[in-house]
Amino acid sequence: MRTSEKILVIGSSGQIGTELVQNLREIYGIDGVIASDVKVTEQAKEGPFEVIDVMNAQGLLEIVKRHKITQVYLLAALLSATAEKMPKLGWDLNMQGLFNVLDLAKEKIIKQVYWPSSIAVFGPNTPKVNTPQFTVMEPSTVYGISKQAGERWCEYYFNKYNVDVRSLRYPGLIGWKSAPGGGTTDYAVHIFHEALKNGKYECFLSENTILPMMYMPDAIKATIGIMQADPGTVKIRSSYNLAGFSFSPNDLAAEIRKHVPGFTISYAPDSRQQIADSWPQSIDAKEAAKDWGWQPEYDLKSMTDDMIKNLKNVLL
Ligand SMILES: NC(=O)c1ccc[n+]([C@@H]2O[C@H](COP(=O)([O-])OP(=O)(O)OC[C@H]3O[C@@H](n4cnc5c(N)ncnc54)[C@H](O)[C@@H]3O)[C@@H](O)[C@H]2O)c1
Repeated sequence: MRTSEKILVIGSSGQIGTELVQNLREIYGIDGVIASDVKVTEQAKEGPFEVIDVMNAQGLLEIVKRHKITQVYLLAALLSATAEKMPKLGWDLNMQGLFNVLDLAKEKIIKQVYWPSSIAVFGPNTPKVNTPQFTVMEPSTVYGISKQAGERWCEYYFNKYNVDVRSLRYPGLIGWKSAPGGGTTDYAVHIFHEALKNGKYECFLSENTILPMMYMPDAIKATIGIMQADPGTVKIRSSYNLAGFSFSPNDLAAEIRKHVPGFTISYAPDSRQQIADSWPQSIDAKEAAKDWGWQPEYDLKSMTDDMIKNLKNVLL
């Protein structure tokens, strides 16, 4: 067990935080990881938890000092679909939250920062297939704009202030332990719940909308992997492309049908379709593979097998 680090996860009650905290505690011990959020869940009973509003820089500083925090994983954000409904709040939270954490590292109060970006940094003019690390971006959502600006600021803080900040451009993330939090790829989690409970699902994206996705264990592995990588190997300090596999709702439904015979899917695209249409279909993650050894384990079939197996235990 590693004991030299004291970790603060901000936004720990969300889809990623719920799983990340559990995984980090296996490495750093229960007391080595402080979970924090504005929302209190069952997680607060499992180990140290603080109510933190990341917008409150003074409150954040006090908690960071009290716990002698060395690393912050900043997960608090407004996601793509929610931020489109509340653009000003999305921008304020996604940017000011990041500044409040980056400034702690600039002042050398903490040593290391993890902040996730997203495939939403890409836009309609980006090459859609095997999207390269360095390419035209021009995001068209407020979420994507905030992520792209965040990437620029991360790189700036690294270059100007020697801040050890590390970042990944997550694709849509799929997991069974926690609910998704208002993104454009949330359908890929909801569909499993509805298939097992009701045998049918109405999808808010059209049947052939291909998007890059990843199973949560791979996302957690990548997150902890880049944070533990030797600093010299982390050459990109904006954010790394990260890839798992790509599929459409139609592909996923066919895979689920192998476990749930007779499962039916219907399509009623809503405002999230426009967001999905502006994003890539697949991502080239060779820089992450080359620099710090990124390798995903799951594909569509193994992810579906594992989701169904685990969700059956939880739901049925
Ligand atoms: N889940 C995905 O598919 C995905 C894909 C790409 C990028 N990301 C990024 O990963 C990060 C985490 O995503 P997630 O899916 O876990 O999101 P989520 O919405 O499930 O969780 C975010 C958490 O932040 C908390 N929060 C909101 N405002 C806060 C504040 N002011 N102070 C403290 N906490 C606050 C919320 O209560 C919530 O628990 C975000 O930066 C998101 O943009 C997620």
